[in-house]
Amino acid sequence: MKLFLDTASIEEIRTANDWGVLGGVTTNPSLLAKERESPESVWKEILTEVPGDVSLEVTALDADGMAEQGRRLAQMGPNAIVKVPMTPAGLEAAHALHADGIRTNFTLVFSPAQAILAAEAGGYCVSPFLGRLDDVGADGMAALRSICDIYAVQGYDTNVLAASLRHPMHVIESALAGADIATMPFAVFKQLVKHPLTDSGLEKFAADWKALHGELEKGA
Ligand code: E4P
Repeated sequence: MKLFLDTASIEEIRTANDWGVLGGVTTNPSLLAKERESPESVWKEILTEVPGDVSLEVTALDADGMAEQGRRLAQMGPNAIVKVPMTPAGLEAAHALHADGIRTNFTLVFSPAQAILAAEAGGYCVSPFLGRLDDVGADGMAALRSICDIYAVQGYDTNVLAASLRHPMHVIESALAGADIATMPFAVFKQLVKHPLTDSGLEKFAADWKALHGELEKGA
């Protein structure tokens, strides 16, 4: 399972990239709004910084507008994926984009039914939003598991991109369910590496090493 960052912050992207485990990036209009810079310049910087796929979201609400915007976004880099919402207009726009050979990521997906549509429409990725389902008292992980099972039974090759992940267990369970990609905020990315036993173990190794050298110096 590839690990993606769900951010438009170039600093966060650079840090995760330095760890050598960043598979790609997903952005959305809310994340770009946080950066308070021109979206075009932020997108360009991310596309250059990250070798993997970067999802750039359309903001038009009608099919023609989405398709036109999607064509422009796709031209920004070979690793650009056009994010379209799972709506009738989004499906129509994706159909037009696929005819031009442009890869799409269906976003705001909340049900297995919508995920079937995304696959039948030839989406490159489908993004079920786990955390937002949990927020309304539904079971986001159960929806993801069903989507992964349906895709396996049907032989769909659309990539399942587990999105709206809020904590490390979401990431672990997504991997177990068979998701192809998990996208998460930087805070969750950092939590993946943390374990108190790693920290205390490291402290103990360092202390024992120092003590050994102290004894050797005394004996010399
Ligand atoms: C995915 O592509 C979305 O940008 C994202 O995961 C949404 O997450 P949120 O529910 O934390 O905003």
